[in-house]
This record gives sequence, C-alpha cells and structure tokens, in this order.
Amino acid sequence: MVWYVSVSEDREKRYQDLLDYVRYLEQRVQEMEAEISLLRREIKYYKQEIDKLMAPPLIEGILLEILDEDKAVVKSTTGPNLIVSISGNIDRGKLFPGMYIALNQRGSAIVDVLPMREDPAVRAMEIVEKPKIKYIDVGGLSRQIQELREVVELPIKRPDLLRDLGIEPPKGIMLYGPPGCGKTLLAKAVAGESNATFIRLVASELAQKFVGEGARMVRELFALARRKAPSIVLIDEIDAIAAKRIDIGTSGEREIHRTLTQLLAELDGFDPLDNVKVIATTNRIDILDPALLRPGRFDRIIEIPLPDLAGRLEIFKIHTKKMKISDEVDLGVLAKISEGATGADIKAICTEAGFSALRSNRTYVNHEDFLHAINKVLKGRFRPYTNESEYVPEVKDSEDKHLVI
Ligand SMILES: Nc1ncnc2c1ncn2[C@@H]1O[C@H](COP(=O)(O)OP(=O)(O)OP(=O)(O)O)[C@@H](O)[C@H]1O
Ligand SMILES: [Mg+2]
Repeated sequence: MVWYVSVSEDREKRYQDLLDYVRYLEQRVQEMEAEISLLRREIKYYKQEIDKLMAPPLIEGILLEILDEDKAVVKSTTGPNLIVSISGNIDRGKLFPGMYIALNQRGSAIVDVLPMREDPAVRAMEIVEKPKIKYIDVGGLSRQIQELREVVELPIKRPDLLRDLGIEPPKGIMLYGPPGCGKTLLAKAVAGESNATFIRLVASELAQKFVGEGARMVRELFALARRKAPSIVLIDEIDAIAAKRIDIGTSGEREIHRTLTQLLAELDGFDPLDNVKVIATTNRIDILDPALLRPGRFDRIIEIPLPDLAGRLEIFKIHTKKMKISDEVDLGVLAKISEGATGADIKAICTEAGFSALRSNRTYVNHEDFLHAINKVLKGRFRPYTNESEYVPEVKDSEDKHLVI
C-alpha cells in the first residue's frame, strides 16, 4: 500500500515538473517570437535605409506646360527644356504649370510632385514682413532719413496726398557711399517705419549661370513685391549687374545685360503710386550704367557719406545703449578720436571694447577699453576704404591679451 502511494506521488510530481517545463518552453517561444518580430522590423528599417542610400538622385524641375495625358514640357535645373512623360502614379489633377516636380535620374519622366515653395527666386532673397529696425537705430543720417521719408514712407502711407496734388514720387532711390555707413540699415529702417514688407536681393544673385534665369528672377522679384505690397525692394550692391556696358563680349556679360534690361523694363512698367518702392545701393556710383539713373528709374540719388563728428557720436550712443559702461566714458571724446570710422567700424569698436572688459574680468566697460578698441579696429585692421592720414591715438594697452575662458 505504501509503495502504491509513493509511486503515484512520484508520477504526480513528474507530471507537474513536465507541465512547468512546458509552460517555461511556451513562454520562451513567445519571447523568441517577440524578438523575431523586433529583428524583422530592424531588418526592414535597415533595408529601407540601404534603399535610400542606393537610390539615384532625382532631378528637380519646373513644370512649364502639360501637353496631353502623359506628356509635359519641363524645365530641368540642369539646363534645357525637356519633353517628358508623366509617370502613372501621379495625380494629373494636381499638376499645373509653374510647380516643382522631380524627374527620374535619366530626366525622362515626372515621378513626383514637390511641395510648393513661395517662389523659385525667393531662395536668393531675404524677406522680412515688417523689419524691427527704426529710424532711431540709424545714427547721423537725419537729412537722408528726411529725404527717404518723403519719397518712400509718405507715398506708401498716404498715396492719396500725392495723388490729390497730382505729383508722382520717384520710383527708385539710389543710395550710394562707402561700405559700412548704413545703406542697408537705412533701407531696412524705412521699411520698418512704413510697415512695409522688406525684400532684399543682393544683385550678384541675379548674375545666374543659365540664359534667361536672371531676367526671370527680376520678374519674379517684382511679382512678389506686388503680391506683398506695401513693400520695399532693396537691390543691394547693384553695381554687380549695372556696371557701364563698355564691351559686351562674353555670353556671361550678355546675360547680365539682359538681366539689367529686364530690371529697367520692370521699373518703367510699374506705377509710381503702386505701393512698391525700389531702393538700390552701391559703393561705386561712378561705374553705374547711366540708363539706370535716368528720370523715371533710380532718379533720386542720395549719398550716405562717412559719418561726421556729430554722426559718430550718435552712432556711438546707439551701439552703447545696451552696454554697461562706466560713467567716466566720454562718448564725445571717442567720437572725436575715431575720425574716419564708418558706422560698421563704430559697432565693431563697441563690441571690441566689450571683449576688452571681459578679458579684464570686469562687468562694465571703461574708457581704456574703448581706447584700446579704437586702436585695434581703426589701426589694426586693413581698411582700404579710408585714407591713411587720420589721427588715431596710440594706446599701449594690453595688445595681445586674449580672452581665456
Ligand atoms: N549710421 C549708422 N547708424 C548706426 N549703425 C550703423 C550705421 N552705419 C552702419 N552701422 C552699423 O554697421 C552695420 C553695417 O551697415 P550696413 O550694412 O548698413 O552698411 P552698408 O552701407 O550697407 O555697407 P555695404 O556698402 O558694404 O553694403 C549695420 O548693421 C549697423 O550695425
Ligand atoms: Mg549693404
């Protein structure tokens, strides 16, 4: 009897052990399956990454015209206009001329539609809805500010006044003068004060590689300006495309000429009371094509000269406004001894003075710092745009101290 019980107990125990083992195995299987699916997902991810790395690049293009169900004319960014087919998986309803598309690597078919960007030329432009810069941020140019208010701000804000009087404001304003004296700054300030959109294009961007591209950018620039009106278009460093046409030899020069012609045509084309104003800047008014300065084009010419003593003082005040400076700093003296400095130089002097204070472990800037900075900025740097005979103080202070952090 005892024997029987022990056998059956033994069996019972073995059965339990086996059951536990089976449960354990079942659990392992589940874990393994989970791991497999995780690894599968990883494989899929890496496969996709490999596909991405192996895929040939697509070509960006602009759709010009849809010819029929599956043919279209596109302008590829690699050169000529192409007639290509439209791949089957593209919704024809979504295609319309002027949009960006992707061509396959052989350039033979449209394979994707790219998201619409503002404007093809916009990539080269700086657009600020309402610049924050105000007239008080511009020092020593009150006469120029007055003039710009009359010819830019007033026509934008009160076109009715001019219309009633029957006068037409100038369409284009040319600002010229040495670099760093506030041309770009002033144009931004006018836009800021007129609550206008500021659109800036550096003219060298218009000198494009492909035939017709520069002229197209000019057209788009003006179309954009009209759409965003009231707006102020700043064509910075216009000498890049508007130098006197002495000899049109190479095809590159012809292309720049075409761009300039388009610019003149746009200027001629719009109404001076449209609330679009064009400001151009240059350092070299002497080399500009006279056609540009003709009445009806950039006919208001304003010089932005090197700041005089009072101007320098104002600019010092503007750039030290947010600095912690000690009471002994005499900005009047600083303005006096920085004869020949441009606005940009004065800004650099203030920054440099700040660094000088930092190097001496001070939390405020003193007169010595400024003297040191003036010496460093005006004497230590190559400034080809000023003449040599200016008086600049000799400061023997910590010449080559550097900030150690
Ligand atoms: N009159 C000024 N008042 C205050 N700051 C000025 C003045 N002129 C220049 N600056 C400072 O110098 C910087 C450069 O000036 P800006 O870009 O306007 O020069 P620019 O005349 O357009 O020069 P460039 O001909 O080289 O384009 C400005 O951002 C500003 O900080
Ligand atoms: Mg400038």
